[in-house]
Amino acid sequence: MNRRHFSSAVLASAAAAATGCTSAQLTRRPDPLLFDPSRYTPQTVEVNGQTLNVRAFENLPVVARPVEPEYQALNLYVPEAYFTGGRIGRFDARTAPIFLPNAVGGYMPARPGTLTKSMSGPAEQTHRVSASAVALSQGYVVAAPGARGRTLQAPDGRWTGKAPAAIVDLKAAVRWLRHNADRLPGNVERIISNGTSAGGALSALLGASGNHPDYEADLRALGAAPGRDDIHAVSAYCPITNLAHADEAYEWQFDGLREYRNVSISMLDFRVQRQEVVAQLNDAQLALSAEMRANFAAYVNSLKLQAVDGTPLMLQADGRGSLRDHVAALLLASARRALAAGQDVAATPWLQMQGGQVIAVDFSAYARAVGRMKGQPAFDGFALETGENQLFGDSTTDKRHFTAWSSRHSQVPGATVADAATVKAIDAMQQLMDPRSTVAPHWRIRHGAVDRDTSLAVPALLAAAARRRGGSVDLALPWARPHSGDYDLDELFAWTMSSAGA
Ligand code: DHB
Repeated sequence: MNRRHFSSAVLASAAAAATGCTSAQLTRRPDPLLFDPSRYTPQTVEVNGQTLNVRAFENLPVVARPVEPEYQALNLYVPEAYFTGGRIGRFDARTAPIFLPNAVGGYMPARPGTLTKSMSGPAEQTHRVSASAVALSQGYVVAAPGARGRTLQAPDGRWTGKAPAAIVDLKAAVRWLRHNADRLPGNVERIISNGTSAGGALSALLGASGNHPDYEADLRALGAAPGRDDIHAVSAYCPITNLAHADEAYEWQFDGLREYRNVSISMLDFRVQRQEVVAQLNDAQLALSAEMRANFAAYVNSLKLQAVDGTPLMLQADGRGSLRDHVAALLLASARRALAAGQDVAATPWLQMQGGQVIAVDFSAYARAVGRMKGQPAFDGFALETGENQLFGDSTTDKRHFTAWSSRHSQVPGATVADAATVKAIDAMQQLMDPRSTVAPHWRIRHGAVDRDTSLAVPALLAAAARRRGGSVDLALPWARPHSGDYDLDELFAWTMSSAGA
């Protein structure tokens, strides 16, 4: 491992270099990606009644030739103690892990995150302390990158944030950190990514696609720093990933359910208050659903993945099989943990109880009880109506299909379909199948037990795929949690602490 030796002398010399020009700098073009430690604003954060002083380095460009400068930027927060030789807990300026939370929701554009704005969204959570503030209080350096998103458009009308723009920007931020490893506090070999929903998908993708050559041309065109972009650990809440098979997975889970409670807002995002409208699938849609479920079984079987205990994860065309049993077992474990923590689970219609213990999960009853939230297909809409259709546009097209299935059933004359390389470039699952990627060694995946934004098969397959690539994976479906993230910060940072190996 390439461990750096950070010292305050290095910081001082970098500061001097930033303020005065040497003759060498006059002849060479200055490096626009060089970190200048002298340009910061002092900020304070309150965590658990304690006030922490930090230096805030905000809106740092992470590429030399940005197309959307407000988004292709990073906010860096460093505990003041690290500039005076101090320690926080077990960490100092050389060893502090770097917490990298992205603020992406709905595959929308995201500015670099700040400390005051909560990363987690549902209304009741917005006043809680942010994950970044907790991270700083525990001695992490926080690097909060922005990312382009699906609605961005340049003044000339060209779309600038379509897939895979967001992941390219996050990779550029990781490269920026390594590029400046000797000038900034924090250990670039201990980068821990965090995100929720679309942001969870991007967090997983960052860990799945390290150093992959597929992104090189885009990174180079933007003037990203050369070098590695693999990371140490992934924290992903309810990742909306595996978009190429998410439609099939959704039909598999909600097998035969006619009623759905459609969310009547065009921008799905875990931070937005949702209003639901009851609707029905018709007979033709139910027939399509059965076809899609059989396609999902064929896909799952082609993956040849295994559960932790070595059981192959398979499905029959009717949707039954060991993957279904595996997902039911994850729900069972969730219920048992909730019960052990003193929660009342007895009234849950899909749990079988005996003698005060939870003994089984009925997965069909689970699906009926939580209910279908999205129409059909859930992601690649036949009318190009979803956020994902907009994610898969290109510079001159706002919305495209991204599966052969929906492209065949398209209701939009002249609709086109994204190329396979683009679909892969924004998909953690496909990157985990590609041996050319460097995979993060540590993964924590959380998907709320009542989250209906994507099928529970999506995080289950993601976990199994990361495990096959050598990752140590901690997957759980927290009891009664809807589509949300950052709700268990104590547990998250206990996990990052052990996975950071510090
Ligand atoms: C998000 C939610 C979705 O249902 C979806 O399809 C994509 C993104 C989100 O909350 O980020």
